[in-house]
Amino acid sequence: MEPFFWKESYNTGIKQIDRDHRNIVEMANALYNTIHSDNGGRSAILQNCQKIVDFTEEHFSREEKYMEASDFPGMEEHKIEHDRLKEEARKLLLRFELDTPGSATGLYYVLREMFIEHIPESDKVFGEYYLSKAKK
Ligand SMILES: [Fe+2]
Ligand SMILES: [Fe+2]
Repeated sequence: MEPFFWKESYNTGIKQIDRDHRNIVEMANALYNTIHSDNGGRSAILQNCQKIVDFTEEHFSREEKYMEASDFPGMEEHKIEHDRLKEEARKLLLRFELDTPGSATGLYYVLREMFIEHIPESDKVFGEYYLSKAKK
């Protein structure tokens, strides 16, 4: 595991969306720090994980509202990716609650996947579409 660093290339140009993504980076690092600190007890890790899962879901629906409002043609496909990430994150949270080892780390890797694939590929495509529509 290694901490997250914000990259300029994560920016989609949609302020609210970028703010959410930055928030997710911060929450992921808080989880990272909790996992790696000596006083990072189970309940602290659980709290972190719950916050992340709740906020990520909130973020996805916010993003989908932007897509709906701008008639984004790739919305269906994008939603499928959101649903898959949501499902995976929820499953890991549940596993953590059931004390399955490695589930908090697993959640962390779902977030990494979001920043390696979903944001640079899918969110950016939407950002470009949204901004080009806003200019018209
Ligand atoms: Fe996003
Ligand atoms: Fe997205």
